Amino acid sequence: MAEQLHISTSASKKERYDELVPQVKALVADEPDLVANLSNVVAALRQTMNFFWVGFYLVKDQQLVLGPFQGPIACTRIDFGKGVCGTCWKEARTILVPDVDQFPGHIACSSDSKSEIVLPVIKDGKVVMVLDVDSDKSNDFDATDEQGLTAIVQMVGRLRGI
Ligand code: SME
Repeated sequence: MAEQLHISTSASKKERYDELVPQVKALVADEPDLVANLSNVVAALRQTMNFFWVGFYLVKDQQLVLGPFQGPIACTRIDFGKGVCGTCWKEARTILVPDVDQFPGHIACSSDSKSEIVLPVIKDGKVVMVLDVDSDKSNDFDATDEQGLTAIVQMVGRLRGI
């Protein structure tokens, strides 16, 4: 396993995602344990993209349950269809929220969170977890984030043990 990530510090956001994705693939390639791999995926994202909060919520017994994350402590359980995460699960699609105050039913785990993007991890046609990323700035996510993070969730959907 690689011991460190190599990301150009002066690189643009798109370049950082382009450099990160293959390195994350290599990072998880030889490890069969799901929690270990999800933990490294969120650490790599936080380290490279400097997110305020990034983590997985896993579908367990009809709820989303908090999984590996980096950032301030967070809500542990979210119901189907509730908040941005539960809506992403229900609708099985990426949801980008430029201003969390404008999203009906947004669940505020932290009052510092201002914008958010949530992507589904899909296995065999079903949402098995979501990747949630929060920013403490409004309007902080765009199509470049959606593209880069989509590559990450597609890779996570192919992990062993999922
Ligand atoms: N804001 C999310 C809840 C999770 S936290 O942001 C970590 C939501 O509305 O589903």
